[in-house]
Amino acid sequence: MTMNDPLLPIEFSDLSSPAAIGRQVLDRCRADGLAWVRPARAAGVDRTFWDEALRAHGERVAIDEDVMTGEPNDGLWSTVAYDPAHPGTFRHSRTAQPLHTDGSYVADPPEIVFLVCRRAATSGGATLFLDGRDLVLALGTQRPSLLAALVHQPMIFAKGGLRVQAPVITMGNDGVRLRWNVHALADGLAPEVRAIATELCDFLGSGSSRLPIRSVRLEAGDAVFFHDDRLLHGREAFNADHPDGRFLWKGGLRPHGDTRGGP
Ligand SMILES: [Fe+2]
Repeated sequence: MTMNDPLLPIEFSDLSSPAAIGRQVLDRCRADGLAWVRPARAAGVDRTFWDEALRAHGERVAIDEDVMTGEPNDGLWSTVAYDPAHPGTFRHSRTAQPLHTDGSYVADPPEIVFLVCRRAATSGGATLFLDGRDLVLALGTQRPSLLAALVHQPMIFAKGGLRVQAPVITMGNDGVRLRWNVHALADGLAPEVRAIATELCDFLGSGSSRLPIRSVRLEAGDAVFFHDDRLLHGREAFNADHPDGRFLWKGGLRPHGDTRGGP
């Protein structure tokens, strides 16, 4: 998939073979890095449907975190839902969220992250994606010195008692891999490391017109699956006037076999 290809959903109306749909989704993820799924009707396509659809294809990974401490817990599903009681967390705010990977501070994060939409916002709230290959291409032509720094300079990401030291961009035989979350950078980074992070933030934040960012607005019943370390993801701000006015379930999966995919 290139930046010029339209992102089209996998559409389905037959709910009788969840495992077959799960297979189709993971095959699309392997090929394209992400898969957007849109059922003909939202009824019946909730988190229990995806529990069933994914059962044969991989190991579910606990992905939930305590909303107050950020510490991981045993929950296989995490809710990302507007809650005015917690405006200081992206998980519960209605603000835009900058591009990031979920597993920046996790040593061995699940390869696939997925979002299942229970309720869409009144307006806004699209999920945004930037393919790691497109990021490297853009940096290589526009900021080659920043690209070199992101490949060679380790950063430290930390949250909820977890801590990982790694460069933002790794380029190996299996393609471009990413670890990045400006809000998970550890305290006390050296000024020169912090400066690299700030430059990347500025590059991504001002890049909506020159980076091939894809936008997927999930409607109720939709889901999107993606390789967490092959793409950055984020979201647009949205409008919601009551708790749970936008409501997503989030999960993590470690697929069986060699399903990392890549270029
Ligand atoms: Fe995220």
